[in-house]
Amino acid sequence: MAAKRKPARKPLPRVRSVAQLRSAIAKLRARGERIAFVPTMGALHDGHLSLVRLARKSAERVVASIFVNPLQFGPNEDFTRYPRPAARDRAMLASEGVDLLWEPEVKDIYPPGDLTRVNVEGLSNVLEGASRPGHYTGVCTVVARLLNAVQPDHLWLGQKDAQQALILERMAADLLMPVRIFRGPTVREEDGLARSSRNAYLSHAERQQAVALSQGLAAAWILLKEGERSAARLAAAIRREWDGYPLVREDYIAIVDPVTLAPLKTVRAEALVAVAAHVGPARLIDNFPWRGR
Ligand code: PAF
Repeated sequence: MAAKRKPARKPLPRVRSVAQLRSAIAKLRARGERIAFVPTMGALHDGHLSLVRLARKSAERVVASIFVNPLQFGPNEDFTRYPRPAARDRAMLASEGVDLLWEPEVKDIYPPGDLTRVNVEGLSNVLEGASRPGHYTGVCTVVARLLNAVQPDHLWLGQKDAQQALILERMAADLLMPVRIFRGPTVREEDGLARSSRNAYLSHAERQQAVALSQGLAAAWILLKEGERSAARLAAAIRREWDGYPLVREDYIAIVDPVTLAPLKTVRAEALVAVAAHVGPARLIDNFPWRGR
């Protein structure tokens, strides 16, 4: 009996240098196809794959990048131990039918003599930026370069880092970049924990307690639904929820304007409820946007 043949998986073309990328992109462009771009730092999970799927629906071609950007890590952060499961990541992108994967090296993104940094004033030094000085300059600098090289029609970012999405939207608008930016919703584990490459750092006990972040947010969501509008009381409700999780150390609980990131006293039409906490060796973030009345 003839052995059953596995369906052929589309090969995943990979490029490294900017010159190789540009020539591959030119071939896609020659057919008049639109390009949606999903930049990543690898260590892919369902959150990334959901962005790839959304990108696939938004344009004919999907280009992804994997680049662990040294510029967005602080001196005491996890750059060297950040997971880099390259073969697994490639297989995941191949099975999603990604058309082109760009895996630049540091010298491709930061050529010798590089001096240019991109900074979005005001939005970059609060919340994540206050805890991680220089982080968003690193993010903006790399994403500006990735966008200049790929020149996509669409850029897909996750709502999980809402501040990052907001800052990159501002950057693209301010620098007149011809790209439409979309946010994909946060993808969660069954118990509510937001998917993150950094969840891999958690021990079993820490993983169980990490659910505090989404549970705190759920408590605030319910209060908002019930009509609570005091930011202080919403933050207190999240903190009360976290009290039951001794392995969770608060970094911030913020109820802010979703466009300016200014702290709110009272929630009116729109708000961003954002949290960050250390759980063992991992620093985790989560949020939800509130669009109420
Ligand atoms: O969100 C990320 O994974 C990174 O910050 C990004 C956007 C790929 C830039 O390095």
